[in-house]
Amino acid sequence: MSGPFLLSERALSLKPSATVAVTSRALELRRQGVDVISMSVGEPDFDTPDHVKAAAIAAIESGKTKYTAVNGIPELREAISAKFARENGLEYAPDCVTVTSGGKQALFNAFFALLNPGDEVLIPAPYWVSYPEMVALTGAVPVAVPTSPESGFLLDPDELEARVTPRTRMIVLNSPGNPTGAVFPPEVLRAVAAVAQRHDLVIVTDEMYEHLVYDAEQVSIGLYAPEHTLTINGASKAYAMTGWRIGYAGGPKGVIAAMNALQSQSTSNASSVSQYATLAALSDQAHTAAFVDMARAAYRERRDRIVSGLNGLGLRTPTPQGAFYVMADTTPIHPGELEAARRILDDARVAVVPGTDFAAPGQVRLSYATSMANIEEVLRRIGGLLG
Ligand SMILES: Cc1ncc(COP(=O)(O)O)c(C=O)c1O
Repeated sequence: MSGPFLLSERALSLKPSATVAVTSRALELRRQGVDVISMSVGEPDFDTPDHVKAAAIAAIESGKTKYTAVNGIPELREAISAKFARENGLEYAPDCVTVTSGGKQALFNAFFALLNPGDEVLIPAPYWVSYPEMVALTGAVPVAVPTSPESGFLLDPDELEARVTPRTRMIVLNSPGNPTGAVFPPEVLRAVAAVAQRHDLVIVTDEMYEHLVYDAEQVSIGLYAPEHTLTINGASKAYAMTGWRIGYAGGPKGVIAAMNALQSQSTSNASSVSQYATLAALSDQAHTAAFVDMARAAYRERRDRIVSGLNGLGLRTPTPQGAFYVMADTTPIHPGELEAARRILDDARVAVVPGTDFAAPGQVRLSYATSMANIEEVLRRIGGLLG
């Protein structure tokens, strides 16, 4: 672009997404009336639970529609503090908690509050693509720590420590993980916590998928290195509230204050109505637990079906223990994941995400946050493609 609207170096530094081509092609096919089944979405297919919706409606009707404190209404911060204690065994006082517009903003604020240009940030790969992009926006340097399908994408703490340099500042953890579904067991988390302690690193742990765990134990790393850990979570995945845009963080008071200062100069408070909705999700524990249990059971059944189906077709797919994604090895379709995803879209009419952007060559990600009928049809279509 030329003329007065020269784009900033920051804007230009954002990597164009390799998956955009596949996503645009899927949209184009849909526009042409082709029935494409999307296995690419990163959100629950369930509706937000009724008790949460009712709390939002009540908030609107009682005029709770104005600015709130930047860091969130006190009742919600208290409920989050209680949730951290009850579900995670973590001690974050209400003034060590902040409420953000989605988990994404909590991460963004955290990176901008803590990173300087040239700092190095260790990120297990395959990773959620926003981590390296956000880290790079601060001027810091993302450093991938590879994990493999053979080990179920489990992080090896020695591999992590081997990448620590004098410039390393931070470790980003995401368990259960997107895109791998890997859940790091307590012994791995303990070892990662020890690495952080030995080298005086910050751990930013993204626990957005904590409730979607099937046959593993979900543990918060903050238990092992509380003085090093900033814990990020949110309402999006746990309570099927992606559109409400509520995330939150718990951490040391000074970091939370810096995140609040950043937020006060950008978006101010998260939506007031969404905050009251989230308060209901965290306070009405009986209804929320019933919803979470129902969703988890459905996801488990779908996971089992899609994993056995894809492996049955000859596409090697490890069994993930959490989240709602599987990673399939698509090299039998094409050695390159972009081309494989293109063929799956064009010839099987199924939209998947190629692993290119999240450092997973030869693999594609499928989300099973969709109906069992869709999963059966997807397996039938991909089966047809493989002949
Ligand atoms: C690992 C991970 N963290 C954070 C987010 C962002 O969540 P939110 O929609 O609350 O911003 C996502 C959404 O896809 C995610 O997969």
